[in-house]
Amino acid sequence: MYNSRISGLGMYVPENIVTNDDLSKIMDTSNEWIIERTGIEERRHIKKGDGNTTAIMGIKAAKIAIERAGIDKDEIDLIIFATLSPDYYFPGGGVLVQEELKIKTCPAIDIRNQCSGFIYSIATADQFIKSGMYKNILVIGSENHSGGLDFSTRGRAVTVIFGDGAGAAVISREEDLTKGILSSHLHSEGKFAKDLALIGPNTNRWVNKIIKDNDPDDISYYPYMNGQLVFKNAIVRFSEVIMEGLNKNNLQPDQIDMLIPHQANLRISQFVQKKFGLSDDQVHNNIQKYGNTTAGSIPIALTEAWQEGKINSGDIVVLAAFGSGFTWGSTIIKW
Ligand code: UT7
Repeated sequence: MYNSRISGLGMYVPENIVTNDDLSKIMDTSNEWIIERTGIEERRHIKKGDGNTTAIMGIKAAKIAIERAGIDKDEIDLIIFATLSPDYYFPGGGVLVQEELKIKTCPAIDIRNQCSGFIYSIATADQFIKSGMYKNILVIGSENHSGGLDFSTRGRAVTVIFGDGAGAAVISREEDLTKGILSSHLHSEGKFAKDLALIGPNTNRWVNKIIKDNDPDDISYYPYMNGQLVFKNAIVRFSEVIMEGLNKNNLQPDQIDMLIPHQANLRISQFVQKKFGLSDDQVHNNIQKYGNTTAGSIPIALTEAWQEGKINSGDIVVLAAFGSGFTWGSTIIKW
């Protein structure tokens, strides 16, 4: 019998800072609107010529995580890469990481669960470790949103929210069964698939040859979000799935030392914080600086919280996410 634990964490965000005022210059929005509705003050965008892609950012975060885990890259038995913005339609980002890091020919899995992608990835890694099959798994969440957003006023409800960046974790075998990843809880509800989606690049359209090249009015090539519906579902599902994880482990909300919510909207995080009676010290938010980095959001926030000394041995750490699919999930960790 084995448990699994996070043995190393890393993050990378592009240097290029885009403030709300910067966006106000190119679309009809304002710093006040964005801060009031989302809490976001600025986000990072890849800049032309900086060499970043979704895979490259993930690799930069992964190198830090591997070093902090104290293992050699060739000790990695599996790569799991979560993103909704892969470098290529296929193959996925995992193989690009394997090649760039020159890791032996280990397996690579891509996970397509958007904002819940990192939770789904951790849950997958955890099972491979607990089964005894693998000892060290590299999990990456990375997004290049800025390459695919509508920067006209038409796209403002979505575009102001999202940012670029990556986070990574090494998940390793743990012999002490009282420590590490205690459980993960995953859900989906596909009836809402089109309420937060990017429909345009799909194989049905290729087959039926209904694709139009360079049509500026074809908004199906930009992400669509039914914002209020997503918001309402998010606050319910976040709360439910955190409670599910606590119940599974006979924990009470006041035993949470650190909650890392997916950074979708500061108002969602604050609602969840209040619902569970947590203080500001028990929740780590950084959406103010990075916006919503989807699969990157939880590993970036987790890395930051850990770097700032907010997570210590023995702490109960709760990760929770909700997003496109709809999919949602939580992971309960004893650090
Ligand atoms: O990570 C995946 C999960 N995602 C989420 O959880 C996001 C959940 N949803 C939200 O966070 C919020 O719904 C948003 C932040 C996306 C939008 O906030 P809202 O309070 O729901 O605003 P709204 O969409 O109802 O729009 C209100 C008004 C509209 O104008 P009218 O129709 O009232 O005249 C919008 O056109 O605000 C307008 N608006 C904007 N105005 C300035 C929408 N986007 C903007 C903008 N700047 N960027």
